Amino acid sequence: MSRLFSGIQPSGEVHLGNLLGALVNWVTLQDEHDAIYCVVDLHALTLPQVADELRRSTIATAQMLLAVGIDPERSTMFVQSQVPQHPQLAWLMECTVSYGELSRMTAFKDKSNRDSTSFISAGLFTYPALQAADILLYDTDVVPVGADQRQHVEITRDIAERFNSRHGDTFVVPAHIIPPAGARIMDLQNPGNKMSKSVDGAGTVNVLDDLAKIAKRFKRAVTDSDGDVRFDVDAKPGVSNLLSILGAVTDRDPEALADEYSQYGPLKGDTADAVIAMLEPIQARYRELEDDPAETMRLLRLGADKAEVIASEVLARARRNVGLID
Ligand code: TYM
Repeated sequence: MSRLFSGIQPSGEVHLGNLLGALVNWVTLQDEHDAIYCVVDLHALTLPQVADELRRSTIATAQMLLAVGIDPERSTMFVQSQVPQHPQLAWLMECTVSYGELSRMTAFKDKSNRDSTSFISAGLFTYPALQAADILLYDTDVVPVGADQRQHVEITRDIAERFNSRHGDTFVVPAHIIPPAGARIMDLQNPGNKMSKSVDGAGTVNVLDDLAKIAKRFKRAVTDSDGDVRFDVDAKPGVSNLLSILGAVTDRDPEALADEYSQYGPLKGDTADAVIAMLEPIQARYRELEDDPAETMRLLRLGADKAEVIASEVLARARRNVGLID
């Protein structure tokens, strides 16, 4: 069975982009893969965090994975900082990736440009090295992610190949899996920008939002004035985003869906209804889990123990090949 790894940051609320670009696929893929899912709290530290909020959010994110349908019996689910091999391997990754490669990462450029006066941590810059460590520590074959993470998986492949050629065969070189619809969910108010945890405005739909509020947000979604329902991301970003969302939720092709609509109103209404039908049971399961954080922490500890068995073997292999003594 091929090995699968993916991760999500515990910063901010889980939104529709996370759900459709990643989490729903994680649930499906756990049937056919040896799947490992990680709440990447060390990645969250690249931006300023409040301690109590980070703790709460780490557990809440794990509960969201459970509510969406990750089964901790079939998959391994854990928190990154509970497996110390992640930051240990990250150092070897930092010494294998170049300054130039890290400088070309669009996620770093976006985040550091957003507010150039604020504190930009070195961790934000070396972030892809930690992400490469996450993936390579598990002899991962495939990494299911949204389109915004494609570049991070590609740099992971480059790091793995370079390490293997310098130090001998050590790492499996992973491939990404990007879903056909939903890989890039855009902000409903600014469809030129992706939906993001860092912009929690009227264009964001969070999985735990009040359902009436979600319906309103779709009703007010920005479209355009030509009135034609077509899938054309460049010319019609708002309408195409609605078609992508509806396509991802109903497992249909967004272009084929466009033929079924002649007006924006019904498209908005159907998209809202489909999203709400998907979120309602997730919200109900989340509310049940929310009352028992101790049980979630117990499951996470078990997951970390399972993950560490694999991670410690792969780290030992990398240490040996690079010349560190036992
Ligand atoms: P994060 O926490 O930003 O997002 C988690 C997952 O959600 C996807 N995603 C989206 N998909 C579609 N449309 C959107 N608007 C949207 N926004 C987010 C992301 O592509 C991702 O799959 N660096 C990663 C976390 C990470 C990781 C890893 C992922 C750390 N180590 C190892 C895979 C493997 C991140 O910040 O994801």
